[in-house]
Amino acid sequence: MMAGESHETMLSVEELSFSYGAVRVLNEVSLSVPRGRIVCVMGRNGVGKTTLMKNVMGLLKPEFGMVLLDGRDLTSLSANQRARAGLGLVPQGRQIFPRLTIEENLRVGLQARRDRQRKIPEFIYEIFPLLKEMGRRKGGDLSGGQQQQLAIGRALVGDPQVLLLDEPTEGIQPNIIQQIGEVLLYLVEEKGLTVLLVEQYLEFVREFGHEFVLMDRGRVVAQGETADLTKEIVQAHLTV
Ligand SMILES: Nc1ncnc2c1ncn2[C@@H]1O[C@H](COP(=O)(O)OP(=O)(O)OP(=O)(O)O)[C@@H](O)[C@H]1O
Ligand SMILES: [Mg+2]
Repeated sequence: MMAGESHETMLSVEELSFSYGAVRVLNEVSLSVPRGRIVCVMGRNGVGKTTLMKNVMGLLKPEFGMVLLDGRDLTSLSANQRARAGLGLVPQGRQIFPRLTIEENLRVGLQARRDRQRKIPEFIYEIFPLLKEMGRRKGGDLSGGQQQQLAIGRALVGDPQVLLLDEPTEGIQPNIIQQIGEVLLYLVEEKGLTVLLVEQYLEFVREFGHEFVLMDRGRVVAQGETADLTKEIVQAHLTV
């Protein structure tokens, strides 16, 4: 980054609170994702990371707080409307349709497009060639890493401005993890995307993330540049 250059906010979450029934899971969570950056939400199991991502995508509705995309208030919009507004989610556990082929899974993503294009963009196949090579295979027959590539491809088909990924490296072999990180960097550097991802794998955050947001029991307890993610912060909030 050039000296004096400032980061324009692309996605912001403002004082968001959410409860499942009587149990408060998110407590006034605020964070902002600058345009063209990769921001990583970290935290132990059960601290509310997935609940946060679902609130951002509109799959859950907060009790209080707001979600803004490029200054536009999305809080009252449904998940489908948010997808059309420019958010794409790669959910935890991938949520591939197991009985649909790779190509059919990708076609599901077309529904989120604003331009009504009905063709899968070629660059998806350039990023993940196996999605073309194996296009007729059923989603349920793919390995975890292949399913993750498909889930990312399906989100990209919708032409999002902001890509949300919930634990993209969970249960995936190291060479695919590396490839996913490189794809994310390519997307922000060459395609102008902005990324908010949940990640528990510290090495991945250090290698591919620009900023971190650390959660503990429904609150943001630390945030900053990943280069400043110290051993003390990690020990206090991440190691069990
Ligand atoms: N549908 C639900 N109903 C009730 N409680 C829920 C529901 N989903 C999650 N929870 C609880 O809310 C808390 C936060 O869950 P969440 O899935 O957001 O955590 P997480 O940080 O994503 O965890 P993990 O790292 O295991 O994916 C947990 O205590 C969880 O048990
Ligand atoms: Mg989760």
